[in-house]
Amino acid sequence: MSDWQKTGWRAKPRVQMPDYVDAEALKKVEAQLAEYPPLVFAGEARTLKAKLGKAARGEAFLLQGGDCAESFAAFQADPIRDTFKVMLQMAMILTYGAKVPVVKVGRMAGQFAKPRSAPTEVKDGVELPSYRGDIINELEFTPEARVPNPKKMLQAYTQAAGTLNLLRAFSTGGFADVHHVHSWTLGFTDREEAEKYRDMANRIQDTLDFMAAAGMTAETQHDLGTVDFYTSHEALLLEYEEALTRIDSTTGKWVAGSGHMIWIGDRTRQPDGAHVEFARGVQNPIGLKCGPSTTADDLKVLMAKLNPENEAGRLTLIARFGAGSVGEHLPRLVKAVREEGANVVWSCDPMHGNTIKSSTGYKTRPFDSVLREVQEFFAIHNAEGTVPGGVHFEMTGQDVTECTGGMRAVSDEDLSDRYHTACDPRLNASQSLELAFLVAEELSARRENGLAAAAV
Ligand code: PEP
Ligand code: CO
Repeated sequence: MSDWQKTGWRAKPRVQMPDYVDAEALKKVEAQLAEYPPLVFAGEARTLKAKLGKAARGEAFLLQGGDCAESFAAFQADPIRDTFKVMLQMAMILTYGAKVPVVKVGRMAGQFAKPRSAPTEVKDGVELPSYRGDIINELEFTPEARVPNPKKMLQAYTQAAGTLNLLRAFSTGGFADVHHVHSWTLGFTDREEAEKYRDMANRIQDTLDFMAAAGMTAETQHDLGTVDFYTSHEALLLEYEEALTRIDSTTGKWVAGSGHMIWIGDRTRQPDGAHVEFARGVQNPIGLKCGPSTTADDLKVLMAKLNPENEAGRLTLIARFGAGSVGEHLPRLVKAVREEGANVVWSCDPMHGNTIKSSTGYKTRPFDSVLREVQEFFAIHNAEGTVPGGVHFEMTGQDVTECTGGMRAVSDEDLSDRYHTACDPRLNASQSLELAFLVAEELSARRENGLAAAAV
């Protein structure tokens, strides 16, 4: 893109970004990051884009999930392993139901910066700047902790590199071998969804036994022993993104080196704003959150800017309207996409439109609303003849109590037991599996009705 520079966003209006007080310190950090190796290779981003192109056509399905905000304090192997493991289980459930490959993308290894609904937070009459994610400031409610510190970008880079290293090791080192489909049960005991999972695992095991008998094993079929797992985050902190943006020596094009896929949040998608300006020039797959205020005209302008060549897999539209509101908003956007003849992946984020305050004061999401939004998303695509190409969840492999409901019902009173998120409430492992089964049922119903690969 000849009219684009990685610094071009600096001339555009920016929102949701910190004002660093120490300009010298910021410059130093940026210079240092610009010297560091990128975290991902451009060829990987291109491969992911090709896979997402398949999801746009209904020949694959996108599963994107992970923390709302990764935290420096929770940087340990176990949470990374457990989230990875639940994503593999969910992918297995979806593949089994949908009979299409599942493209696995973590909200991991870079998901540190958060847009906030208010610039300040008031507690007991004290007003302080809002927490904006560990890459910017600290959660602790003190004036010092809330000052944006550019050095945190270096720690975020290090944590992202460590996380990605472990994910790559798990993906190819044997952990993700499909023959372990049984051992990924995460210690579930007698719960219904665990039973359902085991039943499916038994059937997969049967197939594997048959394949082994026919001479197809992980040794002869490399694909059975490894998994492709990609990383993604919201490209909110543009100083960090710019510093890690490099020229891909293979194509001569720019690539964001901070993660395989990046997305633009619902609060930063102004067509003439800094975030859209940055994202339009890098060749990575781009996600665009679409909330209730997204107009058809906005979407048309954004699609033209972000995907001028109408490349399938380049743009994923992540709908997040809230249960009960999908029917009001999604059809006008589906119509806009159809009018433009645009290639997009339609993904459903049933989290961000369903956040409420519990009676016990916690920010939570009722699991029923999450399920309902997914069902509404599928119903609209089924009616419109368009392709529901993916889902986007805030989830963890840990047994947290952050979203209410689910088969092993979490009540308002239970929320205080294990409420660990630094930002939005996440589905726990059990709720994530339950949701995956629901999505698998929706996908297999489409397949039975001959809708899976229905083109626009
Ligand atoms: C998020 O994904 O954490 C987020 C803030 O989403 P949205 O931009 O859709 O509000
Ligand atoms: Co969130």
